[in-house]
Amino acid sequence: MVGKVYIVGAGPGNFELLTIKAYRLIREADVILYDRLVGEEIEDFLRSLKGKEIVYVGKERGERGEKRQQEINRLMKRYADEGKTIVRLKGGDPGVFGRLMEEMEFLHRHSIPFEVVPGVSSVNGAPACSNISLTHPEKSFGFLVVSGRDSGRIKDLWKEGTLVILMGGCTAREVALNLMRSGVGPETDVAVIERGSFEDQRITFSTVKDLAGRENDFMSPALIVVGGVVGLSKKFHDF
Ligand SMILES: C[S@@+](CC[C@H](N)C(=O)[O-])C[C@H]1O[C@@H](n2cnc3c(N)ncnc32)[C@H](O)[C@@H]1O
Repeated sequence: MVGKVYIVGAGPGNFELLTIKAYRLIREADVILYDRLVGEEIEDFLRSLKGKEIVYVGKERGERGEKRQQEINRLMKRYADEGKTIVRLKGGDPGVFGRLMEEMEFLHRHSIPFEVVPGVSSVNGAPACSNISLTHPEKSFGFLVVSGRDSGRIKDLWKEGTLVILMGGCTAREVALNLMRSGVGPETDVAVIERGSFEDQRITFSTVKDLAGRENDFMSPALIVVGGVVGLSKKFHDF
């Protein structure tokens, strides 16, 4: 009998931001295939579980995503063919820059049953842990999520809302330059949130212009929030 794959979001890294369903599935699974972004606390928890196969499948720096994905697919199929219950554990929410579509396509193609279990994305989790509201009646009518690589393409999409930029922490300077080229005002407020929700979470407030003049020395993972709501949240941070 073929097994089943649960594609589960682990949240932004803090153990208590795992959902109850994720926690239950992890305890019940035979195999856990987990990514780097799940964070140390959750990794420690996984490692403490007995009688399961716990397999790290995270991408190493500089490694090609395609090759790693093929290996993950191979493992999902192998364990499913053995009739096992597999939790494919991803950082944040599986549907946000998480190769969810590719994994669902693969499982579907091989007739392997699967279920997607949402997680708290860093998109909203890291700002919330930093007292930043992504929307506001006067300051932000909505928010847009892009990767650092595409931060130069926002011109027509982003107008007076909040911008959340993932995968831009180690190129924050270039991201800020892209934003200014795309018409974002140099004095617009920016927060870089490093290791959002972890105990050593750090938040740096600046403006787009100041970020463009800084070193790229942020801890990973980090995301960047841009817009008026950031300025509003500063007082909570000081408080
Ligand atoms: C490949 S994307 C995956 C996003 C994930 N699926 C999610 O929903 O959060 C990885 C990027 O998410 C952001 N990220 C993930 N966890 C984070 C955290 N705890 N604090 C800040 N940024 C985080 C960083 O920008 C990182 O480069």
